[in-house]
Amino acid sequence: MAAFGTVFMPQMALAKYEDQQWGDSEIVSSDSISLHPGAHVLHYSSTCFEGLKAFRHEDGSVHIFRMDANIKRMAQSAELLSLPAFKPELLEQMVKDIVAKFADEVPAAPGSMYIRPTFIGTEPAIGKAAAPTSSALLYVLLSPVGDYFAVGAKPLRLLLEENGMRCAPHMGMVKSGGNYASALGPISQARTEVDADQVLFCPGGDVQETGAANFILIDGDELITKALDSSFLHGVTRNSILTLARDLGLKVSERELTVDELLERAAKPGCEAALSGTAAVLTPVGTLIHNGKEHTVGNGEAGETTLKLRQALNDIQWGKAQDQHNWLTSI
Ligand code: COI
Repeated sequence: MAAFGTVFMPQMALAKYEDQQWGDSEIVSSDSISLHPGAHVLHYSSTCFEGLKAFRHEDGSVHIFRMDANIKRMAQSAELLSLPAFKPELLEQMVKDIVAKFADEVPAAPGSMYIRPTFIGTEPAIGKAAAPTSSALLYVLLSPVGDYFAVGAKPLRLLLEENGMRCAPHMGMVKSGGNYASALGPISQARTEVDADQVLFCPGGDVQETGAANFILIDGDELITKALDSSFLHGVTRNSILTLARDLGLKVSERELTVDELLERAAKPGCEAALSGTAAVLTPVGTLIHNGKEHTVGNGEAGETTLKLRQALNDIQWGKAQDQHNWLTSI
């Protein structure tokens, strides 16, 4: 199968903002867009995006998972980056229209259709380093996908990074390319030097998140993860997993987790750790690498509770369990 996110549907939904207003959305070719080389996004990174998925149920119907939450987060990212405000209904319609257009292409389980709303500032104005773009494009790409982290592969190895940061601490909740780009160097280095899959950013010992997913620790019947603040991405999958964990009777503790506490708990035989995200779903973590030493999480294998939570999430997404939290939008 092609690498995650490298195959695209030939068309996308697109809406333009200019002269202080939004135009109607249209379905256009997704082969290319035309941008002035001086476009605001290319110089001052006025851009944000989202990642959500549509799923095919056994009866053939297609459903988008947590569209409202992702659109809300996109609106928040846009506001924090001074991109033009948009009505949630506009993006909602764009997502629905393009998924409906390619409903026949939504893969059956275990695949899904990854939906990538993208927002860019297009004004050709390189003097505007301290002013928002006056024009923008909002578009929604579709990419049929399988797993981001191979299922059945060995649990992930994470390098704990206490000195560097994933991004500026007040911008971690923004889903913007700059935050991902700044994590690329540390991740490449960690891959080469210690064969790590991801870097878990823990500035000053505060366990935050990896470059591409949130981090969750499960110790017995307690699930521990960092409480929401501006320093990391407020994952929609994270929120879904915490909800399902409560449904399963786990105690959910959203609070500060230090590297010391993480390593102490990880050493217990039943301890589990995982990464959550739209792409990552819920992927087990087996090893933490800290100061040159490898620490096995629990027995180093995929944890029972982790797999149960992943299954509970997938069952709702693929229509095998009741959607009791109203997370699905039917197309
Ligand atoms: C997502 O999980 O949707 C992301 O944006 C992360 C990316 C690695 C695909």
